[in-house]
Amino acid sequence: MSRALPPFAAFRSIGAYAPKKILSNADLEKMIDTTDAWITKRTGIKERRIAAEDESTSDMGAKAATIAIERAGIAKEEIDLVLCATVTPDYFNMPSTACIISDKLGIHNVQALDISAACSGFVYLLSIAKAFIESGMKKNVLIIGAEKFSSIVDWTDRGTCILFGDGAGAAVISATTDREEAFVDVHASADGAYADFLVTPAPGSVNPMSQKTLDAGLNFVQMKGNETFKLAVKTLTKDVKEILAQNDIQAKDIPHFIPHQANYRIIKAVGDALNMREDQVVVTVHKYGNTSAASIPMAINDLYESGKLKYGELMLLDTFGGGLTWASALLPFAGKRVYT
Ligand code: UT7
Repeated sequence: MSRALPPFAAFRSIGAYAPKKILSNADLEKMIDTTDAWITKRTGIKERRIAAEDESTSDMGAKAATIAIERAGIAKEEIDLVLCATVTPDYFNMPSTACIISDKLGIHNVQALDISAACSGFVYLLSIAKAFIESGMKKNVLIIGAEKFSSIVDWTDRGTCILFGDGAGAAVISATTDREEAFVDVHASADGAYADFLVTPAPGSVNPMSQKTLDAGLNFVQMKGNETFKLAVKTLTKDVKEILAQNDIQAKDIPHFIPHQANYRIIKAVGDALNMREDQVVVTVHKYGNTSAASIPMAINDLYESGKLKYGELMLLDTFGGGLTWASALLPFAGKRVYT
């Protein structure tokens, strides 16, 4: 349990946005050599959302953020830091997607930046928001996980295109003096030795944009699926067991386990290793697929809008993604308003 003095960081609100267009497994059957049965059995995914052509990552992020700010019950002028986690930014170099989202929200003259931690981005942002708030530097941090993953997917690669979807989630993390509302703990880790497990080789300083990189399809995500799968199960199981043990909390006492939604088999394996009951585990992978940095906040939002996430209830989050990066968090939901 955190022994820090106030201010503490509190998870004040959640919001999310899912694009309208649904791409079902039946649709994919018409595009590549796959079947609904294979995708369902190997991943648990039935459908995913795809952003419109003229809908950007920042458009989705701004929509999710608008809801999160409204639910936090604060004015946008009270936000003093805007952080966006994405690997599908509006622009690959600059400006940051956080800057563009801030402008769309009418938030000006406030520090704004992106982070790149792939699927772990949202939980990484929790650790960053916590540090800014506990140090007294900021009071209301807007964190956003937003992805237009469809823009980096090779729609002829059946090993990846079945998995990913688009969407955004956002939360307001605020300073509080109430210890009961405080984040309990956040773990965030990385190991670049596995950088080639999940990679978009171009554009970047290694492979600047050129006709050659485009012809070779280096602008698309490449994944060592099976190796990533095995390492995810092993690493996440260890990480969540550690965060629970270090904070003297039993898995059976967690009301809401909200894992990264990459593959139902990973969710089930980690849940089983913790002896989690089905009612403790939040699953949205069947309807959104893997939305990378947006996956966890979209899942929290689903839980919230279903009326099942109440003020003060503990959430356990875990995530794993490109980098490789992974992270887990234990924190109470400190939203003042209940969704109606
Ligand atoms: O969020 C970031 C972290 N990412 C992840 O956690 C993703 C982790 N990986 C996975 O979810 C799984 O590895 C996949 C779903 C991507 C693949 O499942 P798998 O059980 O690891 O399958 P595999 O890659 O070992 O492939 C098994 C077979 C292969 O055929 P052969 O060589 O056995 O004849 C593949 O070609 O399944 C084939 N296959 C497919 N068949 C039908 C691969 N993709 C498909 C497909 N439809 N879409």
